[in-house]
Amino acid sequence: MALVDGEVLISSGEIEAKVREIGARISEDYEGEKLLLVGILRGAVVVLADLIRSIELPCELDFMDISSYGTGTSSSGVVRILKDLEEDITARHVLIVEDIIDTGLTLSYLRRTLLARKPASLEMFSLLSKPSRRQVNLEVRYVGFEVPDVFVVGYGIDYAGAYRNLPDIHALKPQEDEG
Ligand code: IMP
Ligand code: MG
Repeated sequence: MALVDGEVLISSGEIEAKVREIGARISEDYEGEKLLLVGILRGAVVVLADLIRSIELPCELDFMDISSYGTGTSSSGVVRILKDLEEDITARHVLIVEDIIDTGLTLSYLRRTLLARKPASLEMFSLLSKPSRRQVNLEVRYVGFEVPDVFVVGYGIDYAGAYRNLPDIHALKPQEDEG
């Protein structure tokens, strides 16, 4: 099964440097504050684990699971909360941590939902962004890399549940006809 291109789109070394740089920015931007990182399951788990260790602030961690995609490669347009936060975010500084923003529908929905709970602030981090695919206007304060309109996997990001364990980010090859 040669679904993953041998070519690496973004290497683990580049990711490591970028995550460290953004972690330092976050540490400056929130100086003197406490931060609640909200990881969006499951894709953001890998980047979240690296990001949190490069933030030099008192930090807490929570998770949400949201569904906007099936097992295919295109948006279903349906956004559902599968698992809500354990924490009360009222009056807290909240940073959503996402793996990739495609249409922006997922984060846009999530943002509205969480703002209704009156956090002190609500900002977003996404490791990857596909600006050419955006369907809604979304201000994402921390973006790791902009990528073209290709389906990517690795470093937490999956295709039908697979490839999350790859250390680098790869573009998924369209499946070729057999024989
Ligand atoms: P959006 O609502 O269209 O922005 O979708 C965002 C979600 O779609 C991400 O959190 C991913 O789970 C998934 N997604 C979007 N593009 C890709 C991709 O290239 N590879 C894997 N998952 C993706
Ligand atoms: Mg996701």
